[in-house]
Amino acid sequence: MRSRRAALVLLLPLLAAAVQTSAALPFIVLHGIGDQCANHGVATFTKLLSEWSASDGHCLYCTVSLLHSLPSKHSSAPIEMLVIKLLSSFPREIGSGTWDSWVMPLQQQADIVCNKVKEMEQLRSGYNIVGLSQGNLIGRAVVEFCDGGPPVKNFISLGGPHAGTASVPLCGSGIFCIIVDALLKLEIYSDYVQAHLAPSGYLKIPTDMEDYLKSCRFLPKLNNEIPEGRNATYKERFSSLENLVLIMFEDDAVLIPRETSWFGYYPDGAFDPVLPPQKTTLYEEDWIGLKTLDEAGRVKFVSVAGGHLGISKGDMRKYIVPYLVDRSSSKTLWWSISDLVGVTWHAARELALGLTESDGAVLGSLSS
Ligand SMILES: *[C@@H]1O[C@H](CO)[C@@H](O)[C@H](O)[C@H]1NC(C)=O
Repeated sequence: MRSRRAALVLLLPLLAAAVQTSAALPFIVLHGIGDQCANHGVATFTKLLSEWSASDGHCLYCTVSLLHSLPSKHSSAPIEMLVIKLLSSFPREIGSGTWDSWVMPLQQQADIVCNKVKEMEQLRSGYNIVGLSQGNLIGRAVVEFCDGGPPVKNFISLGGPHAGTASVPLCGSGIFCIIVDALLKLEIYSDYVQAHLAPSGYLKIPTDMEDYLKSCRFLPKLNNEIPEGRNATYKERFSSLENLVLIMFEDDAVLIPRETSWFGYYPDGAFDPVLPPQKTTLYEEDWIGLKTLDEAGRVKFVSVAGGHLGISKGDMRKYIVPYLVDRSSSKTLWWSISDLVGVTWHAARELALGLTESDGAVLGSLSS
């Protein structure tokens, strides 16, 4: 132990140098529904990834919650009336993560993120995206739709409903969820719901594909699913990613089916069987370049233990961090040194803090 500590002392100045001269690209974290950057789970997640990869992480879409301004009582009016009344009386400030992630249409959320990344000087020469659940669709929209945005290099997706989901994310209890549940009882592909409930933008009921393709406003466009609406630019941009890491949670009960995290889904018209990604039309006809990327060896299909977003620290290090650290070949030697220092640093911190490595889920309390 003593000699280990001595080695640490010697290595610490090196660490400082490694951090200062770090050339790793910055990354952004796009959180899931009902979450916000200030929440403990996503804040810790961003901080740990930043530390472990020696890169700058930014959780975007970060503001205060407006949920405290929700009315605490509701009348006995019919539920749909209540919904409409409540929705129109809520403050609609842009950028309130918790509230807007539920009610702001995804295209609008993606436009906001697109403008933010264009304004961020530090992303100029490229950046990586880490998406959580619904945040993955926003991230993909930024890759595909954001004209003039900085280049996205690696895209690491945790529990993303990439091919849609056949069920709405769990909301919970309380007045807010009463509203959401009531909205979902209305027609999900109606203009009203499409304009007021973000998840309706990727709800894909396999037995109702006609309405989905006609009226769902977000995912059909994002996935180039509409025959007469396919845009080669989306494909070109998406297939220029250096790596696409698709992490699926083995016990995910929020995404239906969980294979949607890998772009797997039900066939049109039926709820079984779940098709693996390579057997879907999106892949076979290469609508967005997933096949192109896969054949170039740039898609990593990863399956980890745990429920929705319940990633362990060990799996974060194994499947996310390697794509955030600088891996350019000219820096190989330097980085093998700094990797060593990084590992040592981690050990030093734990010694200093008297911690042992715990492998508990960081994001375990997140809803979606
Ligand atoms: C395809 O998307 C690009 C980028 O958003 C846009 O500039 C272009 O006009 C689109 N093309 C068509 C045919 O819609």
